[in-house]
Amino acid sequence: MPLSSVLSAMPWPFPVRPSLDNLADPELRRLVAMALLAFGFAILFLTIAFTVRRARIAAVLAALVLAFLQAPSLGLLFVPATPTSFRQSPTGFSAASIASGRTVFATTCVPCHGKAGDGVGGLGQVTDLRRPHIWTHPVGDLFWDISHGINEPDGTALMPAFETMLSEQTRWSLIDYVRALNAGAVTRGRGGWPARVLAPSIALTCASVVAHTIADLRGKAVRVILGAPPVPLASVPPVNGIALVTVWLPDGQTEAAPVPGMDCVAQGGTDGALAYAVLAGSADGQVIPARFLIDPEGVLRSVWRKDDGDEWADPGRLLEEVRTICTEPLTIGTGAEHEHHH
Ligand code: HEC
Repeated sequence: MPLSSVLSAMPWPFPVRPSLDNLADPELRRLVAMALLAFGFAILFLTIAFTVRRARIAAVLAALVLAFLQAPSLGLLFVPATPTSFRQSPTGFSAASIASGRTVFATTCVPCHGKAGDGVGGLGQVTDLRRPHIWTHPVGDLFWDISHGINEPDGTALMPAFETMLSEQTRWSLIDYVRALNAGAVTRGRGGWPARVLAPSIALTCASVVAHTIADLRGKAVRVILGAPPVPLASVPPVNGIALVTVWLPDGQTEAAPVPGMDCVAQGGTDGALAYAVLAGSADGQVIPARFLIDPEGVLRSVWRKDDGDEWADPGRLLEEVRTICTEPLTIGTGAEHEHHH
């Protein structure tokens, strides 16, 4: 059994867990590097203490002082943890889970987090779920917060516990929705992705490739067309032998007739269109015309919305993007503005 499944199955017993998150901040990275260097010297001094008799006391003292001074910086390699920090989500970030999370969110969470999840119409900025740092919280920690609520250090409740009110499955779906909502808002606001966001899987009917879901298209570049199909559809030659497969995700209103140039059409109702609309940053869940590119690892890369302007239809730009996602891995911004207090 891989370590991650073992950790997922048992409660985490410590109030902190090892994490490299703090290293995203250059200043904290410098502190940790200095501490590691100092510990290196401390070990060197101890070695000297064992080998050079005359220097023994001085070397041991120097090692102790170094270790003592730098130990707090090594604390930066740990972050607060919850008993479910390492729990993995059972949902697979599927479109169906995102869509069902959205339905529950609308009734249960909107009073405080606002219709668009940005806190507007709710409790304001503290309840904005659209800040990029959400993705730095492991899903297990979000699960803990939603299950057990969030309190001020003095015990005042900020958010109620939903453990007895919502099933475990529902709480995981809410997390999928919050992450999708967040990714949509972040890409819309800053252009880049807040994390490696896997393309939610949906059922497909394909004509020219053998695939039954989006996940079956791993190893290929995938273009997802959300909403009305654009005509004509620019074709893109394979890049490094990687073919571009085009998937149409109709808005659910129109009957999905076969369209020339389209390799696959989504099946299974409106969940797929809804989930991808949220990922495109549609605040109210309306299906907006948009296009996504998914890289051969199944990670969402480019997103264009119709109102982004001309790039949307430029075949040269499309080719350039396909080339990028087939040859370069995703880079993530630091999202360093983590300033909340629990
Ligand atoms: C009574 C108001 C209230 C309700 C209802 C509520 N929340 Fe919250 N929630 C808050 C507040 C306030 C915070 C910010 C706490 C803090 O400052 O750390 C928060 C924080 C969160 C966070 C952590 C955000 C972060 O920045 O780390 C998540 C995730 C979250 N809520 C999800 C939900 C979900 C999902 C629901 C619906 C099941 C929900 N909340 C319902 C008030 C509420």
